[in-house]
Amino acid sequence: MARTGSERLRPATRVIRGLDTTDGAGVHLTRFIGTPEIDSLDPFLLLDAFHSDEPDRYMAGFPDHPHRGFQTITYLLAGRMRHRDNAGHEGVIGTGGLQWMSAGSGIIHSEMPEQTEGLLFGLQLWVNLPAAQKMTPPRYRDIAAAEVPAEMREGATIRVIAGKSSGGVRGVLEDLTIPANYLDVSLVPGASLREPVPEDHNGFVLLLDGTVQLLAAEGEHPLAARALAVLGEGDTVAIRAGDTGARLLLVSGQPINEPVARQGPFVMNTRDELAQAFRDLREGRI
Ligand code: CO
Repeated sequence: MARTGSERLRPATRVIRGLDTTDGAGVHLTRFIGTPEIDSLDPFLLLDAFHSDEPDRYMAGFPDHPHRGFQTITYLLAGRMRHRDNAGHEGVIGTGGLQWMSAGSGIIHSEMPEQTEGLLFGLQLWVNLPAAQKMTPPRYRDIAAAEVPAEMREGATIRVIAGKSSGGVRGVLEDLTIPANYLDVSLVPGASLREPVPEDHNGFVLLLDGTVQLLAAEGEHPLAARALAVLGEGDTVAIRAGDTGARLLLVSGQPINEPVARQGPFVMNTRDELAQAFRDLREGRI
């Protein structure tokens, strides 16, 4: 692949193993962003991974709960989940599919496994909304696996969920209100990936399976499955898969650079707006 002399490889500045916790009505998950270790990575507020083939660890799901002030991308790698909200939206996400939701001014929804056995493997990413869009009407979109375009390269398959791959494939999710890239990359053993990541984006690599080396001027940084690498400064990510290949998410977004006031299901700019959100929930305005 062509290289320019000015390319600056982004190193891993931190490697995060995630925090095992439960949420919803008792779903076991690993929280990678939105923890004491890493509160947020502007514009990303939270990243959860749920992965289990034991129904007791996922069946209870996420019954009715509110949101206001941000967007979610729920990406299912295995299993089925049904969501339903108080604006009349309902749908089922299947393996390889995803749901985008902008909670905007407020929504109450449930996210429940649509299976009683087998593997459930999914990721939920919270993407902040700029102040000017926090109180917009809620929106959502269901995207089936077949709608996600893929770019094939030597040794690599890149599913482009949001943004654009360097090969020119445009992501299926064009609704995000801020510039962001969300790539799901599968690499065969030993394969390499070189992908530009805009210099002004914050970004991370979440290794889902296998092992990789993250290449940078300082040297190679090994990553094992279920680890998230926060990307440092630069304009390109370079990765080489280990002996068993790898599957990873490469996600980046332009920071919003606004104050964040968050509590539970609400993410606003000020404490007053948070208090208003809780009042609106109590008084039936969400
Ligand atoms: Co939710």
